[in-house]
Amino acid sequence: MITILVYYYVTLLWNYKFNIKMKIPQPFPYQGSKRGIALEILRFFPVQINRLVEPFAGSSAVSIAAAFQLQVSSFWLNDAHKPLINLWQEIIHHTERLTENYETHWNAQLGDERYYFNKVRSQFNESGRPEDFLYLLARCVKAAIRYNTKGEFNNTPDHRRKGTHPVEMRNRLYRTAELLKGRTFLSALNYWELLEQCEQADIVYMDPPYQGVCQNRDQRYCPHFDHDEFCHWLDYLNRRKIRFIISYDGRTGKKIYGQQLPESLELTRIEIAAGRSTQATLLGRNEETVESLYLSKNLMKHAQSSVSVNDRNRQLLFQ
Ligand SMILES: C[S@@+](CC[C@H](N)C(=O)[O-])C[C@H]1O[C@@H](n2cnc3c(N)ncnc32)[C@H](O)[C@@H]1O
Repeated sequence: MITILVYYYVTLLWNYKFNIKMKIPQPFPYQGSKRGIALEILRFFPVQINRLVEPFAGSSAVSIAAAFQLQVSSFWLNDAHKPLINLWQEIIHHTERLTENYETHWNAQLGDERYYFNKVRSQFNESGRPEDFLYLLARCVKAAIRYNTKGEFNNTPDHRRKGTHPVEMRNRLYRTAELLKGRTFLSALNYWELLEQCEQADIVYMDPPYQGVCQNRDQRYCPHFDHDEFCHWLDYLNRRKIRFIISYDGRTGKKIYGQQLPESLELTRIEIAAGRSTQATLLGRNEETVESLYLSKNLMKHAQSSVSVNDRNRQLLFQ
C-alpha cells in the first residue's frame, strides 16, 4: 500500500514539474542554456524579488522561469555579446516584426537549406541583424555560438533539422515577450560593470561561460573571462551585502570540470542533478552530470527567515 502511495505521489510530482517546464517558453535554443535545471535553481531563490539581475544572460532561461514562477518586479538582462542583446531587444519590443522576418527566412530556405544558411550567415557577419541571428541559432549545430579569429560567426547548419517551425517560433517569442515586457532592462556590458551598479535589494544570478570557453573567442564578441578576477568581484558583492547565486563548476561521475570557488568567499555549494551525460553514454558509461550552485552568505542569512525556502531545501542549506 505504502509503495503504491509513494509511486502515485512521485508520478504526480513528476507530471506536475514536467507540465510546468513545458509551459515555460524558450525563445531560441542556446548552447549552455540552464533551461533543463531552471526550476531546480529557482528553488533557492526568494519567492519575491525586487530586481533579478543576470549579468551572463545568454538565453535567460532562469529569468524566464522566474518570470513564470516567482514574483519579480523587474529584470536586468545583460550579455557582453552585443548581437544577443539586440536579439533580446527585438524579441521584447518588436515581436511581430521578428516573427515575420523569421518566417520569411524559414520559408525561403526550403529546397536549398545549405546555401540559404550560408547566405544568412554572411549577411549576419556584415550587418548583425537580429532576425538573421535568430535563424542561425535555430539552424546551427548544437545552437552553439562560434566565431573565427576574424570575428565572423562560423558555425555550420545542422542538416538533420530545418529549425523551429514559424508557427511554433511565433508562439515561443510572443509568450516570452509577454513575460518580460514592461519590466526588463537590457544591456551589453562586461559583467563587472553591472555588478558595480547592483543594489542591496537585488538578487544576482550568474552563469558565466564554462571556464576555458571564452579564451579562444574573438574578443570583440566576448571579453576574456578570468577566474581570479571573477572571485575578486564576488568578494566585492559580499562586502556590499548583495545577494547572489552562481552556476559554476560541475562533475560527471567522478570527473570534476572547472575550478571550484574559494572557501574565503563563504559560499554554500549545492549540487544539482542535470541528467545523464551523453558523452559518457556514448562511451558506454552510465554517469550522471551534476552542476554546482553557489549561494552567497547574504542570501543564506536572508533564507533563514524566508518562507520561500521549503523544508527540503532548508536541510540542504543548513546541514
Ligand atoms: C553559460 S552562458 C549563459 C547561459 C544562460 N544561463 C542560459 O540559460 O542561456 C554564458 C554567457 O556569458 C556571456 N559572457 C561571456 N563573457 C562575458 C562577460 N565578460 N560579461 C558578460 N557576459 C559574458 C556569453 O556571451 C554567454 O552568453
